[in-house]
Amino acid sequence: MNAKKSGAVRIAILFSGRGSNMQTLANHIADPQVNAEFVLAITNRPAAGGIDICEKLDVPCRVIDHKKYDSRAAFDAELDAALRAAKVDLICCAGFMRLLTADFVNGWPDRLLNIHPSLLPKYKGLRTHQRALDAGDKTHGCSVHYMRPEMDDGPVVVQKTVPVRDGDTPDSLAARVIEQEHIAYPEALDMVLKKMADN
Ligand code: GRF
Repeated sequence: MNAKKSGAVRIAILFSGRGSNMQTLANHIADPQVNAEFVLAITNRPAAGGIDICEKLDVPCRVIDHKKYDSRAAFDAELDAALRAAKVDLICCAGFMRLLTADFVNGWPDRLLNIHPSLLPKYKGLRTHQRALDAGDKTHGCSVHYMRPEMDDGPVVVQKTVPVRDGDTPDSLAARVIEQEHIAYPEALDMVLKKMADN
């Protein structure tokens, strides 16, 4: 599944939960046409469902439990060290629910991607589906973006929109958005890999 590709971009995926975006990215990276290799997963949550996905994929998964660190800086230093030890070229945050320090983010210029369940710059932060419903939005969606030190900030690579339907709940809307997330992240990854290859 996780076949070695010579000269491929070495990708790490950071996650905190069930890991469905990670699975989708892994499936995409497994395509021999995609010049990338999924070399490391890192989670900050020892009970994250995504850990089982890594086992099935046979991708090493490091648990770096944020609760064991005194400060964000100390946690981020450990994260940074693990990524550099694995010679990672590109980091994809996929449901990684930790704010990263500016020092960490600035250490990976244009090498750090995130997926967010809203049409950025709308609804940075949490409860995006509820907030879209509360605002009476007719469309909602997701964004894959390069990360900058401000939370959920940075140039957007891909956005996908979904309709908001009468009677939607945060859960029904989230289900519609996640389908698009699974399309958006592989698409964004292809665009970023192409840009890296062109530079
Ligand atoms: C996704 O909706 C992602 O955009 C958000 O958290 C959710 C993670 O889902 N930040 P999964 O763990 O990838 O299934």
